[in-house]
Formats: sequence, structure tokens, C-alpha cells
Amino acid sequence: MAISKSVAIVAAIGFIFMNLSGQCYGALQFGFYNGKCGTSDVEDIVRKTVISKFLLDKTITPALLRLQFHDCFVNGCDASILLDGSNSEKTAPPNLSVRGYDVIDAAKTAVERACPRLVSCADIIVMGTRDAVSLSGGGRYNVQTGRKDGRVSLAQNAFSLPSPSTSVSSAIQAFARKNLTTTDMIYLLGGHTIGITHCSFFQDRLYNFKNTGRPDPTMNVTMLASLRRTCPQNARVDAPVNLDQNPMSSAVVDKSFYNQIMLRRGVLEIDQKLALDSLSKSTVAAIAGSSDFNTKFGQAMVKLGATQVLTGTQGEIRRSCRSVNSQTLFPFFN
Ligand code: HEM
Ligand SMILES: *[C@@H]1O[C@H](CO)[C@@H](O)[C@H](O)[C@H]1NC(C)=O
Ligand SMILES: *[C@@H]1O[C@H](CO)[C@@H](O)[C@H](O)[C@H]1NC(C)=O
Ligand SMILES: *[C@@H]1O[C@H](CO)[C@@H](O)[C@H](O)[C@H]1NC(C)=O
Repeated sequence: MAISKSVAIVAAIGFIFMNLSGQCYGALQFGFYNGKCGTSDVEDIVRKTVISKFLLDKTITPALLRLQFHDCFVNGCDASILLDGSNSEKTAPPNLSVRGYDVIDAAKTAVERACPRLVSCADIIVMGTRDAVSLSGGGRYNVQTGRKDGRVSLAQNAFSLPSPSTSVSSAIQAFARKNLTTTDMIYLLGGHTIGITHCSFFQDRLYNFKNTGRPDPTMNVTMLASLRRTCPQNARVDAPVNLDQNPMSSAVVDKSFYNQIMLRRGVLEIDQKLALDSLSKSTVAAIAGSSDFNTKFGQAMVKLGATQVLTGTQGEIRRSCRSVNSQTLFPFFN
């Protein structure tokens, strides 16, 4: 009797400890869902959904990449970017044209059908982005899972996102605040190897850079002429422009972004600065001449996916990725 009682007390104390030190109780793992959904493979369910969406729209890859960046960079990878609401992150101006919400909803519906309340929306973002990257020519990297979903999403948090005209040193600082190194940042900005921006994000570089009345002197003159045609002054539409200006690979995840910025063909100011600033240019040149961009990009995405995650007993598994679960004890959270 006495022995089983003390065993119970030790076990209870141990349990309290594990809960307090959330870190070691619920760290991210590769294959967290393995064997947790009967005979179904959670990662496979997500992959099939992403494939079916990709066949209809290949631009889901840039959409999901940007979605993961914004989710992880604002308040950690907790799916807070998915929450609807009048003052949520989604509504903040830096969200701009973040897309891909429907792909996450479809994958969530599919995993809920197989195993209700098992798979977090935060993990679906990371798995789905990985799948889309590999469908667009990038490498298929293994992802860590075991994230929980957060319960808070505030528009004001989205202001921690860097602006496209930020300096390399400020961008390095912003990534350092997320424990990401300069090299991580340079690889992650390689996400701009796919997808689009709009004239309004770089119009100043074409006509009136830093109020000089002249274009950005670092821009390739051939590209300048072409972008001026796409983005005339006083245009009524904000036209889309490929971030990777190599027409052969603007829809492919590859290292060509680095070759382009070395030809002074970066569209966003920060992208061009990456190839010119002494803090980053040697790394850019090394990546441009390397053959392992896909692997390194995947590793950087895994690192991005580990920023400020909720695990173990923290957070929750949302029923719908667009809203937090209702909790009758805390009605003010709804
Ligand atoms: C200093 C950091 C960054 C800045 C300032 C930045 C800025 C921007 C801007 C201004 C756009 C265009 C938005 C629009 O025109 O609607 C964009 C698009 C995009 N960004 Fe970034 N970004 C950064 C980092 C990243 C990272 C780390 C990733 C992913 C790993 C990423 C992935 C993308 C993708 C894929 C698009 C295209 C989206 C689409 O086609 O829908 N960005 N980014
Ligand atoms: C993103 O921000 C813009 C500008 O504030 C807003 O008009 C738009 O509705 C937001 N996007 C979403 C999905 O809420
Ligand atoms: C960065 O790492 C430190 C030390 O491990 C940790 O305390 C901090 O919470 C981390 N910050 C982020 C944003 O992950
Ligand atoms: C500008 O881009 C063209 C390709 O359009 C390239 O041939 C040329 O070398 C680039 N100029 C510079 C200064 O890199």
C-alpha cells in the first residue's frame, strides 16, 4: 500500500514538472503523427489534398510559402494567421495578398474525416507548404510536427514583418530576433524564387528612388525598361510581376533567384540589396554557384517552422482552422 502510494505521489510530481517545463514535455518531432491515426498516414492525407489543389492552381506553392513565413514570423508558428476576425493578423496591412487559406481548410477537412481533433492547423501549414514546394521543383524535405494551435491573433503583431525596402542589416536583426541566422535568412529569402509581387511594392525603384527623381541605380537597365512597361506611372491597376525574373524558372523553386539578383535583376529592394551588401553578398554568390540549394532551403524552412511553437499541453487542436475552439469556462475568448 505504502509503496504504491509513494509511486503515485512521485508520478504526480513528475507530471506537474513535465507540464511546467513545456519544452521537454512536448518538443517537435519528425513524424509526430506516425501511428496516431489508425492505418491512415496523416502526412499522406495532407499531401493528396495539396496535389489535388496544385493540379488546379500551381500558384498555391508561393501562396503557402508566404503563408508559412507570415505565420511563423508573427507570434510563432501557431496558425494565428488563419484566424478570422475583425482585428486578426489576416486583416493587418502587411498581410497584403497572403493566400492559400482554402488549401489549409481542405487539408483540415480531410484529416478531420480520418482522425478528428488530432492534427493541428499549424502542422498542416508546415506539411502542406513542404508538399507544394516539392511539387514546384524544390526538394522534398522532412518536416517536424507536434505543434498546437494558438488562441490569439492580433493585427498589431503583424507589424514585426520587415518591409520590402528594409536594409540587409535590419532584416538580419529581425530574423535574429527569431533565432534565425544571417545564412538562414539568405536561404529563406530564396522563397522569392517563386511567386509574384505587385508594382506598388517597388514603383519607387522605377521612377523616383529615395526621392532622387531617378530610378534605383542598382537595377539592371534591361529589366528597368521592361518593368516600366508593366508598371507605368499613374496606372489604374497594380499589376503582378514575377519575383524571379528568369522567365524559365519564375514558377520553379530553385536557386535561380540568386543568379538573378547577381545580374541586378532583383525586383524588391531587399532582394537586390542581398546581392550587394557586404553582409550577404558572398553567401549569395556561394549559393548561386552551389548545387545543394534545395536541401539547404528545406533545412531553413524546418528551422523557420520551429520558431516559438506551442507543444504538449500548450495551445489546442482547433476544430476549424478559422476560429479558436469555444471554451465555456472562458467565454470572453470566443
Ligand atoms: C525580409 C523579409 C521579407 C520581405 C520584406 C518580404 C516581402 C515580400 C513582399 C513585399 C511580397 C509581395 C507581396 C505582394 O506583392 O502582394 C512578397 C511575396 C512573397 N514572399 Fe516574401 N518577404 C520576405 C521574406 C520571405 C520569406 C522568408 C519567404 C518564404 C520562405 C517569402 C516568400 C514569399 C513568396 C513565396 C511570395 C510570393 C507570394 C505569392 O505569389 O502569392 N518571403 N514578399
Ligand atoms: C489584409 O489587409 C488588407 C489591408 O488592410 C485588408 O483590406 C484585407 O482584407 C486583409 N486580408 C484579409 C484576408 O483579411
Ligand atoms: C531564442 O533562443 C533562446 C535561447 O534558447 C530562447 O530563450 C528564446 O525564446 C528563443 N526565441 C525565439 C523567438 O524562439
Ligand atoms: C542585365 O540583365 C541582362 C539579361 O537581361 C544580362 O545579360 C546583363 O548581364 C545584366 N546586367 C548586369 C549589369 O548584370
